[in-house]
Amino acid sequence: MHIHIGLLGCGTVGAGVIELVQKRADKIADLTGRHPQITKVLVRNPLKERSVKFMGEQLTTDPSAILNDPSIRVVIETIGGIEPARSMILQALRASKHVITANKDLIALHGAEILEAAEQAHVDVFYEAAVGGAIPLIRPLKESLTANEITDLMGIINGTTNFILSKMTATGADFDAVLQEAQQLGYAESDPSSDIDGLDAARKLTILASIAFHAKVSLEEVDTYGIRNLTAADVAYAQELGAVIKLLATGADRQGDLTLQVRPTLVPKTHPLAHVSDAYNALYVRGDASGDLMFFGRGAGSLPTASAIVGDVIEVMRNLSMDTSLRVKQICLPHKMVKRGQGVPARYYLRLEANDEPGVFAEIASIFGRAEISMETVLQKRVRGQIAEIVIITHEIDSEKLTRALDELALQPHLQAIHSVMPVLGGVE
Ligand SMILES: NC(=O)c1ccc[n+]([C@@H]2O[C@H](COP(=O)([O-])OP(=O)(O)OC[C@H]3O[C@@H](n4cnc5c(N)ncnc54)[C@H](OP(=O)(O)O)[C@@H]3O)[C@@H](O)[C@H]2O)c1
Repeated sequence: MHIHIGLLGCGTVGAGVIELVQKRADKIADLTGRHPQITKVLVRNPLKERSVKFMGEQLTTDPSAILNDPSIRVVIETIGGIEPARSMILQALRASKHVITANKDLIALHGAEILEAAEQAHVDVFYEAAVGGAIPLIRPLKESLTANEITDLMGIINGTTNFILSKMTATGADFDAVLQEAQQLGYAESDPSSDIDGLDAARKLTILASIAFHAKVSLEEVDTYGIRNLTAADVAYAQELGAVIKLLATGADRQGDLTLQVRPTLVPKTHPLAHVSDAYNALYVRGDASGDLMFFGRGAGSLPTASAIVGDVIEVMRNLSMDTSLRVKQICLPHKMVKRGQGVPARYYLRLEANDEPGVFAEIASIFGRAEISMETVLQKRVRGQIAEIVIITHEIDSEKLTRALDELALQPHLQAIHSVMPVLGGVE
């Protein structure tokens, strides 16, 4: 018996799905008792040259050829963006088709609407590929780790920024030069803002945090900072301090109070996340029973992403053979508040420029003292003329104390600039 599948989109990911389904068709039939068959593939331009071959009438530009075909039980969406992907998915669900999508933007922004439509139609929506490409993240958080209270998520979940930061660390080059190289190599888009301003990572964190913390979390609740203003100087100081800078997406649950952030962060070289380089992704998870776990692998690419999608297809086909669906629903536990603008207590890295004169450092130290902040490490270097650069790592503090100190520092006549403020990641437990 065949399971007929409709594929919406045949770009990087869609073509990988066709290739992998063809390659694994016999194994999938052995595992599920049914043969997967991608009967229709929707594209915009049917004349475009593609890496995969199509049979007969397989290619279409008419969405209804998939959405209105009752023989198609499973729809895979790899178009991307919000519309028309959202309307097509909702139409597929209302027609009682199971849906698999790689679309993080859509799930982050309209996940609740889509999950509700699936529940009403008694079908499943799976989206393992939406975060972390090939890395299994959604299913472990939703199923394998449910015996835990997950207290912390720390992720490198955007390949573009990780490529840029890894290059800056390896070469000492400045942000703009590395971004240009990343664009030439195809690692960054011509408009890279969604990646470098942290929005892509924030969307993925929204998805992960909702599942891990059983909470309703919206994109606006993620404090998001990108890497646009990061300089070679910060990268070099981080190295001198035994750390590397990573764009970390972090979520924490402290007795029902959530904090969600995407921020450039100093990661000590002793932490496993420091070694996640180039376009690789990783998610570090802390559970009260499991202890610390790390998931690592390829966060994007044609076959890695197809690996997650076809895994979801097999799950749907297993469910179909058991005549079941909605086996693992996404449950939101009540009373979880997201606290904006407040991270969990952390050590902080600060880089300041001040007049290199007697008494100036003492004044800075007394401002920190008044804010009840003690310093763990201080570096001071003359950068030009009578101007010194001061780098401070604080002991662990809450962000309110830091804000108080920064407000007072900004009023200091001898202080030329506060260049950077970044959290420093804590250790492994
Ligand atoms: N690329 C990755 O490594 C990766 C990793 C994880 C998740 N994802 C997610 O996977 C999804 C697809 O990404 P991708 O890189 O494969 O994108 P892509 O290469 O741009 O492919 C998009 C496909 O959708 C088709 N399409 C676009 N608009 C359409 C419309 N209005 N009607 C019909 N077809 C339409 C395009 O048709 P034409 O070919 O005719 O233009 C193309 O085949 C996105 O949600 C993305 O975030 C991608």
